[in-house]
Amino acid sequence: MDFQKVHSLGGEVTVPGDKSISHRAVMFGSLAEGRTEITNFLQGADCLSTISCFRKLGIEIENTPDKITVLGKGLHGLQASDSILDAGNSGTTTRLISGILAAQPFTTTLTGDASIQRRPMKRIMEPLGAMGADIKSLRDNGCAPLEITGKALKGIHYTSKVASAQVKSAILLAGLYAEGETSVTEPALSRNHSELMLAHFGATVHTEGTTATILPEPKLFGRAISVPGDISSAAYFIAAGLITPGAEILIKNVGINETRAGILQVAKDMGGNIRLLNENRDSGEPVADILVSHSSLHGIVIKGSLIPTLIDEIPIIAIMAAYADGQTVIADAAELKVKESDRIAVMVENLSAMGADITGTDDGMIINGGKPLHGAEISAMDDHRIAMSFAIASLQAEGTTTIHGGECVNISYPAFYQDLNSLIKA
Ligand code: S3P
Repeated sequence: MDFQKVHSLGGEVTVPGDKSISHRAVMFGSLAEGRTEITNFLQGADCLSTISCFRKLGIEIENTPDKITVLGKGLHGLQASDSILDAGNSGTTTRLISGILAAQPFTTTLTGDASIQRRPMKRIMEPLGAMGADIKSLRDNGCAPLEITGKALKGIHYTSKVASAQVKSAILLAGLYAEGETSVTEPALSRNHSELMLAHFGATVHTEGTTATILPEPKLFGRAISVPGDISSAAYFIAAGLITPGAEILIKNVGINETRAGILQVAKDMGGNIRLLNENRDSGEPVADILVSHSSLHGIVIKGSLIPTLIDEIPIIAIMAAYADGQTVIADAAELKVKESDRIAVMVENLSAMGADITGTDDGMIINGGKPLHGAEISAMDDHRIAMSFAIASLQAEGTTTIHGGECVNISYPAFYQDLNSLIKA
């Protein structure tokens, strides 16, 4: 796929539904009694993997253009699958479903694509094991394929070394089935969609500081879920608006939950002209339209408890930093190495190829911004966020940027290139 420098950008865009919330709506709906109807569901490959896994576990899920209907069978209604569950590229599917399967009265084999088979699963195997679960890594390398045999679980108080909503959610889901209370303490608060949505489905969950606690629950109840637009998808248009001269973009209906909204803080701290309009909580999660316009950006330091609130946005923040004046330091983000690709290595390689001054560190990167960028050959490394980040980088780079493997955007944003094209002013 080839991209050229654009003259300007402008107009309105509606990004697709939030990936994290879409996964959870299908999962919790499957475990609830009765009907769960989900509107603005993300029809991306990752969320479709979640649907396919729960169908294999005996749940009827109807997927029509206007809504997803999940006919939940209750916490004890799942049935053994007669084939291996395939989570595709999705870490959220793999880790959250493991917490559920750890308590079912049958054995399940769970795997995914080449990237999933490299990603660390010990982070869930250890706490779930401490609850009594029997989870084997079939290649004995701490990665999928996993063989999960459900057991009677007991509640634990777990202190996690990583701020990870996937780890936290896997443990909380297992906690629904465990004897006694289960809690997870994180080093910094990760996204809290599981806590909010589980409570909405009738679970007893509470949060204090960075500790989330759940009680075993006899029943969850089917609900209507309206999924807000994904701030992680909006982030590409936020960056595009900030770096492109003359640009003004309105991004409609974006989820701005504070455990996800670090990109808004960073955009402002870098000098970005960004405003929230029409703020509301109609969907149970805070939502707003985001108006962004071209700004002269400067480098900043991004670290600490802000990192989990923007972990998926760091590739696009690195692009913003390359177009900003001065130095940007990103630290405390070693998790980037175990995402869909090693996002530190891949950003350093690709941004360097475009002429940026970027150095990788053990837990992040340092970017000396303001060097003019030029087109280059970019490998997306089968990582949707890398492909989208470099499509945005190309907008102000001289010459042609070629992105190899750019179709992987179908993981989280199938219509990304069409939506981007709709904003281009020749
Ligand atoms: C997610 C949590 C984050 C994030 C991922 C989605 C979720 O992963 O990077 O894209 O839906 O819970 P970690 O839990 O590994 O930080």
